[in-house]
Order: sequence, then structure tokens, then C-alpha cells
Amino acid sequence: MSRRPPFAEWLSQTNDVTRTFLAAGGMADVINLGGGLPEPSTYPAADLARLAHQAVEEHPEDSLNYAPIEGMTALRDLIAKRFSKGPLRVGRGNVLITTGGMQALDLLGKIFADPDSAIAAQSPTYLGALDAWRPRHPVYRPMRLNANDLDAEAALDGARFAYTVPNFSNPTGELVDVTTRRKLVEAARATGTPLVEDDPYGALFYDGPPLPRMLELDAENEGEGEGDYDGPVIYLGSLSKELAPGLRIGWVIAAPEVIGALVLAKQGTDLATSSLSQRIALDALEDGVIERNLPATLDTYRERRSALCAALEAHLSEWFTWEEPVGGMFVWITAKDPRIDTDRLLSAGLDCGVCISPGSVFDPEGTDRRSVRLNFTANPPEVLEKGVERLARAVRGLIA
Ligand SMILES: Cc1ncc(COP(=O)(O)O)c(C=O)c1O
Repeated sequence: MSRRPPFAEWLSQTNDVTRTFLAAGGMADVINLGGGLPEPSTYPAADLARLAHQAVEEHPEDSLNYAPIEGMTALRDLIAKRFSKGPLRVGRGNVLITTGGMQALDLLGKIFADPDSAIAAQSPTYLGALDAWRPRHPVYRPMRLNANDLDAEAALDGARFAYTVPNFSNPTGELVDVTTRRKLVEAARATGTPLVEDDPYGALFYDGPPLPRMLELDAENEGEGEGDYDGPVIYLGSLSKELAPGLRIGWVIAAPEVIGALVLAKQGTDLATSSLSQRIALDALEDGVIERNLPATLDTYRERRSALCAALEAHLSEWFTWEEPVGGMFVWITAKDPRIDTDRLLSAGLDCGVCISPGSVFDPEGTDRRSVRLNFTANPPEVLEKGVERLARAVRGLIA
């Protein structure tokens, strides 16, 4: 093409670090600690093959047709039933099926954000969310959750919405404590600002029972017997980490008014999520596939988490600090030595055969040069150890 097509302005906003990091993921001979993928051998392939075959053979009218924009009725009802407990009452009108949790983020940007709209976001922030909202030119208000001095009401007041990942944030692996969850819910009630609870890692608790969701905590405010959920929390769920990301099945639980706006946005995006995937997901949920498969996945991930942290202790403790996460897929390490610039560590690491995610890509301002996200789910323990050794070599080269 001789002339550059007239791309929209936001496309020029990605930077070299993001491009290098995205391109490095698939390089041969590079150990990828920078990605965020599950371990493919944990997917229940035999069960899903059986259910896929059954879906087309026994339910062609569902699985090969367009689905309703809101999602397949039986799947919405099943999700509503699974989430209704205690004072939380979820009805079909509270549920929208999405094409992965990622689509929910995109749709939220579409319904809430205009140019220069404020978004209060847990900082650092999931890269995919920053990508989804970049075309809308928002202004971010970073929130450090779990901090004693968090003024949630000030952060939320006047923002179009607040974005959080309370269970094992991507990128930090941080688990938001119950006090902070309550504080956020109260701030959302007081300010009227919608509070997004993005929860793709909620099934990946390795060392203890799950904490209550903000959606559940908020339902305590609504009281019993007042109908379906109508509060400010917008909960995003996904089957990507507990079943298989290739299905691309996610869902939103929110007040019916918000679901209605999301439906309008989804209509102009993909008309409907894949009917075939929805049918397989419905049958997998009814068949107990997740309950049968997840315990072994958790064992694999727990072992890998411990292996990565042991390798960090052995090879990087001189230069970095971190906290061992109790779930999720990531360890966030922060440099103690100011000579370590983690954008430069990305290139130095690639020269030594290891890919990392530098902290700057998760920072709405792009200024973090001290942190690194490391993934532990996609490689076995011995490869994680080798990757960390290579990273230590890269660090020595950088500060020599
Ligand atoms: C915090 C967060 N939200 C949403 C997503 C999107 O997941 P999916 O679209 O596969 O459901 C991811 C994926 O890794 C994530 O880390």
C-alpha cells in the first residue's frame, strides 16, 4: 500500500515496549514468563469433545443458530441460579452472556466512557482493560487497594465507573482484603458510581477458602425479599481460567438497567456470543465438568507458584522483593536497586532467552520502571527455574 490508511488517532498511542512484549511471546527458544496463559494440558478435552459432538448432533436448533443477544436463556438462568445465595438474588434479567470477559470490558467502555471521562482503576491495571478503553480516551484515577489511606469515596465520586480485580489481580496477583471490598461497596452506594468487579481468577484460590465477592457484600445492603439485584456492582465472570479460554464464554451480572445498555452495545459488536460455545458451556456446567477437573488444575498451579517463588528466592532476592500470591497466575516483583530499569530488562531478558512483562504496560501513565509481572501457570517447575536463572543473568548484565 503506497499511502498509510487514515487510521484513528488512538492507534498511534501504543508504544515500543508493548509491541516488543507482544511479539516476544511466541519466539522460539525464549522461555515465556511474560504471558498470561493457562496450562493447555489442564483443559478437559475429552469431556469437551463429547459435549461439542452432542451439542451439534442433539441440539442443532440451538447450537448452529444465532443466539439471543442477551445469551442463551438456559445458560443465563443457570448462572443466575448459581450466583443466587444468601441475600443475593440474581434473575435472568441481571445476566448477559459475553464473548469472554474481555468483551464485557469493551462493552463497559462503550456504554460509560466519553472522551476525558474519569475511570477510577485499581493500580496497576489489567493491560486488556487499558487496551479496551484506549479508543475512548479516558482519564484514569489510580487506586491503591488494600492501603489504609485509600479514600474510595474520593476516587469514585464523579467517575463513570470504578474498575477492580479483587481476586488475584492481573498483573500483581494481589488479593483485595474484605475491609477494602466493603469500603469500595460503600463508596459505590454513597456516590452512585458503578463498581466493576472483574473476576476471572475467582476459582484459583490455592491456600484457603474464597473471600466474599463484592456483589455478595453489596446484596447485604439490599436486604431480603426486595426482588432481583439492583445495586451498583457490575460483576464479570469467565470460564477461561476454570474451563477453557477457547470457548470464549464470559458473563456480566448487574442491575437490569445496566444489562439493557450492554445489550444495545453488544448488538452493534457481535450480535451474539457463539451459540455452539454457549451450548457446550451450559452442558459442561450441568454435567459437573468443572468440579471434576478443577482440583487437579489447582494442584498443578499451586506447585508451579511455589516453584517460581523458590527460584526467585534462589536467584533474584538480592535485587527484587515480592509477595507469594495465594492464588491466580502471577507474581509481581519490584526492583530494590534503582539501576534496574524494567523496560530495559525486557530487552536484556530476551537476549538471555527469557520474556517478562515490564510494569510500564500495566500503568495507565506508562511510568513504572521498577516492576515485572511473571506468570507461573504456563510452564512446568524446571522451566520456571531455568527462566528465572536467565533473568538473573540479564539483571547482572544490566547493572554491570
Ligand atoms: C483481569 C482480567 N480480566 C479479563 C480477562 C479476559 O479474559 P477472557 O476474555 O478470556 O474471559 C483477563 C484475561 O486474562 C484478565 O486477566
